Amino acid sequence: MRRGPVKELGWGSRFGLIMAMAGNAVGLGNFLRFPGQAAPYGGAFMVPYFLALILIGIPLAWIEWSIGRRGGAYKHGTTPGMFYRLWKHPISKYLGIFGILLPAMVGVYYIYIESWALGYAWQMATGMLRGKHTYEEMKASFGSYVGTANAGLISFSSVSYSFFIIAFLINIFVLGRGIAKGIEIVAKYCMPVLIVLGMILAVRVLTLPPRGENQTVSHGLAQIWRLSPQDFQTLMRPHVWIAATGQIFFTLSVGLGMVHTYASYLKKKHDLTLNGLTACATNEFVEVVLGGSIVIPAAVIFFGVERAREIVAMDGTFAIGFYALPLIFEQIPYGEIFGVMWFFLLFLAGLTSSMAMFTPLLVFLEDELQIDRRVGVLLVAFFAFIMMQPVILFQHHKVLDELDYWMGTFGLVLFVAIETVVFSWIFGVDKGWEELHLGAELKIPRIYYYIMKYVTPVFAVGLVVWFCYDGLLEKITMKNVASEDVPYIWLARIMILLMASFLMWGVWYAWQTHPKFFEDEEDTKSENSDDIKTIEDALS
Ligand code: ALA
Repeated sequence: MRRGPVKELGWGSRFGLIMAMAGNAVGLGNFLRFPGQAAPYGGAFMVPYFLALILIGIPLAWIEWSIGRRGGAYKHGTTPGMFYRLWKHPISKYLGIFGILLPAMVGVYYIYIESWALGYAWQMATGMLRGKHTYEEMKASFGSYVGTANAGLISFSSVSYSFFIIAFLINIFVLGRGIAKGIEIVAKYCMPVLIVLGMILAVRVLTLPPRGENQTVSHGLAQIWRLSPQDFQTLMRPHVWIAATGQIFFTLSVGLGMVHTYASYLKKKHDLTLNGLTACATNEFVEVVLGGSIVIPAAVIFFGVERAREIVAMDGTFAIGFYALPLIFEQIPYGEIFGVMWFFLLFLAGLTSSMAMFTPLLVFLEDELQIDRRVGVLLVAFFAFIMMQPVILFQHHKVLDELDYWMGTFGLVLFVAIETVVFSWIFGVDKGWEELHLGAELKIPRIYYYIMKYVTPVFAVGLVVWFCYDGLLEKITMKNVASEDVPYIWLARIMILLMASFLMWGVWYAWQTHPKFFEDEEDTKSENSDDIKTIEDALS
């Protein structure tokens, strides 16, 4: 006979939980995406950034923690079941598939990028980047590393592919060990190491001698922290608000379903408010204090403000991290050591996020489709590996960028809008507020009740509307896509659709095969869900 979903042993310690949640948030976004987003806008960026953090990001994190913990009490570890518990409508469970689809599809390209960091740490350590004295040389070397420089039908480089395999296997190994023995342990050790590395690098950059009149540490820091009169004009442009809000979503890992799944392993009486805030604060420390003190100041000292901005505008977010910084490290004493630290830091940041990305899919297979964990890990590994091949081999045809737009940018905003409407308006903010404060060690200021009720959902829906207005149709119709890339863009879209179809089928099947579990609350919601924490317990 089928049984209800099973939840494995939850978090081992509070420190482990916070490190895992913070690790989920701290990622490539903190060190690469943040400077890339901030640089074009200068000081103007930080105003909407902090407003978005306070008005949207933190309330969203609380909402996701509470949806997750509540779902966990019903033994649902992913958003289809969680949404169904908030809104007993046939469509709610299907809306929930975004919380599995988005992180898994982001993970498909994220692990590849993470593997570049590992490969570059190796290249730095073995002196392979030595002798490259200009930005252009570093850029060309990156092209050869990822295989786009001499791509024909496919872009391939055996070195980068080998590091991809290593990064992939590490992720699958951690996933296979489970929450407490895998994810928590890795986060507990990696996060402190990452913070120490970040501090060492920040101190190194902040003590670099000036290289010209406008190429000093203060000029670098001013790029983020000084609000000049022309910045007020920049603040009138909607794009800076969208970019800042998008960065807050991405960096806090909200709108991706990962926070929900991690939170589902909490017990009913576990605090959400203080833990959630601590995880967000840790992420922000790493992003604005450490991330903000490394990349931009270093680039300004070595290249000057104009050139640093030009680099980001021309070559995108990865340019400073993978072309400019190695060049800088080649020029300072003991630079190779700092270079290894930088790329290893990026790898750890990536790993603590990517291991969260496939967790919802694995937990869905396990909880809702009743697939044994070991089989589930193999299935996830198989799916991920297959999907990763087009990302790697057709990178020069923009498969990665297409996935990033639909999954990591638009999809995330859409899912935030859906979840805030479901939580704040359908489930109701009154019940939500109560749920949030169960076991709370921090009383959230009452103003957040109104923020969650009005500001967060309205803003999230507004963002979706803005996206629709600002180029969504052009994106759908591939208006600016080169004709040789069109088949590959379709391939990326087909991958998304296949995954979405599988998840829709999975939800349908789960609800068909054990409807009683989903309908009969008394039977399944344990009064003392605190006790249901091991597989043995749940089955007994
Ligand atoms: N929050 C993760 C990052 O910043 C996804 O990279």
